[in-house]
Amino acid sequence: MWQNVLLVIVLLVLFCFRDVRKPVFFPPGPSWFPLIGSGYYVLKLLKHFSFHHLMWTELVNRFGPVVGLKLGRDRVVIVSGMDAIRELYCKDEFNGRPDGFFFRIRSFDKRLGVVFTDGENWDMQRRFSIKALKTLGMGTAGMAYHLEKEAEELIHHFRKLSRTNNPISMHNAFDISVLNIIWTLIAGKRFHLSDKRLEWITETIHKSFRVIDMSGGVLNQFPSFRHVFPVLSGFTPLVNLLKPLWEFLNDTINLIDNKPRLPEENDCLITLYLRELQKSNIHSSFSSEQLLCLCLDLFQAGSETVSNTLGFGIAYMLHNPQVVKKVHQELDNVVGRYRLPLLDDRRSLPYVEAVICEIQRIANVAPLAIAHRTLQPVQLGAYVVPKNTITMVSIYSLHMDRAYWNDPEVFRPERFMDETGSKLITHEYFLPFGAGKRRCLGESLAKSNLFLFFAAFMHAFIIEPAGEGHLPELDGIDGITLSPKPYYVALKERLI
Ligand code: HEM
Repeated sequence: MWQNVLLVIVLLVLFCFRDVRKPVFFPPGPSWFPLIGSGYYVLKLLKHFSFHHLMWTELVNRFGPVVGLKLGRDRVVIVSGMDAIRELYCKDEFNGRPDGFFFRIRSFDKRLGVVFTDGENWDMQRRFSIKALKTLGMGTAGMAYHLEKEAEELIHHFRKLSRTNNPISMHNAFDISVLNIIWTLIAGKRFHLSDKRLEWITETIHKSFRVIDMSGGVLNQFPSFRHVFPVLSGFTPLVNLLKPLWEFLNDTINLIDNKPRLPEENDCLITLYLRELQKSNIHSSFSSEQLLCLCLDLFQAGSETVSNTLGFGIAYMLHNPQVVKKVHQELDNVVGRYRLPLLDDRRSLPYVEAVICEIQRIANVAPLAIAHRTLQPVQLGAYVVPKNTITMVSIYSLHMDRAYWNDPEVFRPERFMDETGSKLITHEYFLPFGAGKRRCLGESLAKSNLFLFFAAFMHAFIIEPAGEGHLPELDGIDGITLSPKPYYVALKERLI
């Protein structure tokens, strides 16, 4: 009996010893404890800083630009600062995405879609998506037509709302128009702006981005927690949010599949994918489930980021009336008062473009990009990051680098203009879409969306805070992306 107890104790000690031992040349970071790793330390910091990206920044301040820790069973490395981030984006070994229970919930316990997959399947699905989006007009005159129509509808909708004199909810005001653009590409149709179905879809997407953090959270470390704490662990809320989205996408796919169409009709990504499925020599990664998850990825990644940026953007305009004045001036000089801005005007509106860049820089809607995973052991600076380590890139650290930007907390679009004030300039410390092989595949669509909706809105309206004139808070709500806190405005039409 005593021998068994002793054996258990020895095994436990060995397990604990192994569990807290850091790999050789692993980046510095907080101590590891058996089972929880650095979890307690991280939770304590999170409680203090309230936002994940601020909590990771504090770790970087304490340990250096590359921080290594352990969350439950997962090794996690936080990478910040230009040198380390540039090195990471150049090395293929970092191009994996995390796997695990949390990341598979969205895709029926498999690795599907394009965001949380890697290797050959990811490569095939990413190539297909980019090709399909191009075939459907992304970045061409055809897409410009859809965008301009959508912007016109949006302005018309806001005009009607502004005449009611009721406060207008602004943090989510662009949701449906933004979703319509991505939905036109995925399913070949748009929704009416007052369609109630879309309201719950956009709300569901927002919520799904808030329920858990990019490292996978508690649920990824201890999947069995969901049986004991289904709500607290985040499992039930996440599945309840995903179910209606799966159903909605599935119904849409079936509807398109059953619709008679001409053999060469290229009306949407779903049609193109269904046609691919009929080929005899397709890659094994193509399947009906894969189509659903691809739609879910594009639907979520393509709508949340753009509408959050626009929601933050208008909040920053309320705080910066001198910027609004210059935006109005440029729009009136270039576009005039008798038509709405068009996508073609973009080149002639450098100040508007600079304002959008500054909104993206300071609002940081994707402060930690999307988590990566090492596919092989790989060197990063003086450290070695072992295979299967989750790596998180702090884009926030670049956008808020004091040495580079000087006054990063100040909203100043002029930093994106040349010294003559007439040309837009780029900055290597400005990376809202990430970089390397995993960079955002919707970048050109996102830029067109942001420009046209922002320019059309600013061209048409004067914005004032609603009610007692309180300015909106700018720190946002934490989640996989940062989203603006709810705020309301009064809109007045600008006179012709
Ligand atoms: C303001 C808007 C947007 C921002 C700030 C943004 C930002 C990002 C970032 C930071 C990444 C991750 C890069 C990395 O892994 O290091 C990403 C990936 C991705 N984005 Fe976007 N994005 C935006 C709009 C869009 C749109 C409109 C679409 C849809 C067409 C889209 C689809 C995707 C997809 C599918 C990925 C995953 C790519 C992969 O893993 O290979 N995004 N985005």
